[in-house]
Amino acid sequence: MIKDKNLKTYSTSDVVNYYQYLQQLQPAEETIIKLLKNELPTMRMLDLGVGGGRTTKHFFPLVKEYIGVDYSVDMIEASKERLSQSYPSLKLRVGDARNLSQFEDNSCDFILFSFNGLDYISHEDRLKALQEISRVGKSGGYFFFSSHHLHAIEKVFNWQHHLSLNPFKTYVNLIMFAFLRGFNASISYETIQQNNYAILRDESHNFRLRTYYIRPSEQIKQLQPLFKDIKVYSWKTGLELTTDNDMMSCSDMWLYYLCRIK
Ligand SMILES: C[S@@+](CC[C@H](N)C(=O)[O-])C[C@H]1O[C@@H](n2cnc3c(N)ncnc32)[C@H](O)[C@@H]1O
Repeated sequence: MIKDKNLKTYSTSDVVNYYQYLQQLQPAEETIIKLLKNELPTMRMLDLGVGGGRTTKHFFPLVKEYIGVDYSVDMIEASKERLSQSYPSLKLRVGDARNLSQFEDNSCDFILFSFNGLDYISHEDRLKALQEISRVGKSGGYFFFSSHHLHAIEKVFNWQHHLSLNPFKTYVNLIMFAFLRGFNASISYETIQQNNYAILRDESHNFRLRTYYIRPSEQIKQLQPLFKDIKVYSWKTGLELTTDNDMMSCSDMWLYYLCRIK
């Protein structure tokens, strides 16, 4: 029996099916393909939290070597079912970002942890995963990932945010707000305001996941001991957010981070 609640959710058939049929790249991922296009053909790429293989179709043809890893056996089975026939040389393995012992030190040029895969472990485990990623990545290699944006959800935790001139919209918003507050009964709006990160249950997959939200300034601090040249992107527009104000005022529920391993 799976004890980890997030892993259990990522092993549930409706969730696995959902990821198995996702196709499109997110705009920030398209930005990174454009930025790295000259380097990708020489790169060994590790796609962490590969899920149902959404990113595989886009990156596998561009890189020298591609390895997809996920801690959910069911996700790996689903991605094999989806992709192995089209890409017979594709490597898909079960593995956990917190322990990448199946990979040698300095062995990957590009590590992707897309669509917030890093957000489903505890704070201590997140730091462990970042250590592992920096160990496995070559010095100067790239790490690109996304993470949920605490400033964006903080607004949603304030009931006043849900009022609209349209009474029906206000009614629907307040029902969703009641669910959000009900599933996070132990966390107040004030607690969120006072913290730089929080683990919350949001509406994705019907509140079944515990998701790590972080302020971008804190995420940058968390990366700094191990990574350099840190850049932040809006997932929706794919544009770089260059100032604190750009990051704080961006209402995207998650942001992308590109950095290089020290
Ligand atoms: C939101 S899904 C994204 C899937 C895929 N990358 C995509 O973009 O469609 C997050 C994925 O990360 C995986 N994941 C979460 N924590 C992980 C960990 N510690 N190690 C490896 N995979 C993990 C989950 O099983 C899930 O497949």
